[in-house]
Amino acid sequence: MKPPFYVTTPIYYVNDVPHIGHAYTTVAADVLARYKRMMGFDVYFLTGSDEHGQKVEKAAITAGETPLELADRVVKRYQALWERLGISNNDFIRTTQERHKKGVSHIFTDILNKGDIYLGEYEDWYCTPCETFWTETQLLEGRCPDCNRPVEKLKEESYFFRMSKYQEQLLAHIEANPDFIQPKSKRNEIISFIKEGLRDLSVSRTTFSWGIPVPGNEKHIIYVWFDALSNYMTALGYPENTKEFKQFWPASVHLIGKDILRFHAVYWPTFLMAAGLPLPEKVFAHGWWTVEGQKMSKSLQNVVEPNMLIDKYGVDVVRYFLLREVPFGLDGDFSHTALVQRLNSDLANDIGNLLSRSTAMTVKYYDGILPAPAELQEIDLALKKKTEDMIVNVATHMNDLAFSKTLQSIWDVISAGNKYIDETAPWTLAKDPAQKDRLATVMYCLLESQRIIHIILSAFLPTTTEKALCSLGCQGKIDKDELVWGGLQAGTTITKTEALFPRMEG
Ligand code: MSP
Repeated sequence: MKPPFYVTTPIYYVNDVPHIGHAYTTVAADVLARYKRMMGFDVYFLTGSDEHGQKVEKAAITAGETPLELADRVVKRYQALWERLGISNNDFIRTTQERHKKGVSHIFTDILNKGDIYLGEYEDWYCTPCETFWTETQLLEGRCPDCNRPVEKLKEESYFFRMSKYQEQLLAHIEANPDFIQPKSKRNEIISFIKEGLRDLSVSRTTFSWGIPVPGNEKHIIYVWFDALSNYMTALGYPENTKEFKQFWPASVHLIGKDILRFHAVYWPTFLMAAGLPLPEKVFAHGWWTVEGQKMSKSLQNVVEPNMLIDKYGVDVVRYFLLREVPFGLDGDFSHTALVQRLNSDLANDIGNLLSRSTAMTVKYYDGILPAPAELQEIDLALKKKTEDMIVNVATHMNDLAFSKTLQSIWDVISAGNKYIDETAPWTLAKDPAQKDRLATVMYCLLESQRIIHIILSAFLPTTTEKALCSLGCQGKIDKDELVWGGLQAGTTITKTEALFPRMEG
């Protein structure tokens, strides 16, 4: 049986339309899912939408719609974007679906029955945009410490989750599992946060109605984060012990942005501990994108819309840029200049030229029929070794979710391929009949190295690599068993490719 691998993205709020921040996590998750599938894992890749809560309710009122009408409309924009971006999710969960509501009611009731959710009274400061309560001392100059917006004082009867009870157990879990929270800097932040002391958490509201009611006390609505986090299990069929739940829970990795780490690394694990369920193996928080040096925001009107980027540059260019430009885990800056620079140098020049030069020569010297190689010389063996080493390096970097490093190690081989052409000078060999075997060997090694490159790259650039593999006569052969030198058969028909990536003016 194939080993399971379960990767999730956050579920996105429907009060906002998708921007590059959302596309970023989803593309990263897709690359990971595709890579793991290729490496022989049984992958479950989940994304979805977070449709309840006061924020969505308010947005719906402003738009003159019911919350569900708003959700139905916005969710289509997310789904259409994922389709355009080539996202290969297995499932899309909406928190308004019955399967989800049922699961949330169940886990809430279960923790209540076990005694770790109790009814009490709440008085504190609430930040609606962040859907977060703050104590007086946490406020910064009377405003939300996260977003700096005004907060309101709320007093209400509320259900509380006994989070304080799990403080030591959570710390012990984090200590015992060094990879549970990544990157390391973020892990340290969470440890300090927990050590400051965990308070019990208010997990219901009575001030609005758009959400899942507390079973048996319906004037209470379950806190939107309690509701949302449960999606990772309800999508698998929880509370039913379905085949999917048995196979894929606990999740292998939750990919999220750094702003929602506390919910995933403190709240979620303690809910699970209270319910007696296993914790996810890893929570990885990536950084945030600014745009041309500024925070991305509606008021600054600088929100980068992924559809516009795809129209302008093409889907694989966008996927490549997002994961190459910034090491996963750090903040980064988006600019059109940087994107065009990557497009022209890494994509059009390096990988695009390599394939068009080598396929054009095969067509010219061999009518496109790949010759068999003769004995490999030192320079050929060096290219072979570089290609083989890359497969191992990629596995290490992908395991660390170091997408940018993965691409760098692939590009090392691409550069080596271009250098190999210059050094072996096939056009000179072609003029000398005595070098017939040498030319065949060079052409074979060049194309074989690229076959492996494009298989590995298919996780990142699915559309382009399909074209490339097609021109190498091995389309559809995306599997770890194909990642072995010598897979390309002599006699294969090689066709000349059009430029994989047309250059653009900056
Ligand atoms: N609904 C919650 C998540 C619930 S998960 C159980 C939520 N939704 S969100 O739509 O506001 O944000 C989703 C993700 O987008 C977060 O991971 C957030 O970090 C990410 N980003 C939002 N703006 C971003 C950038 N400017 N840059 C990178 N990621 C950003 O939070």
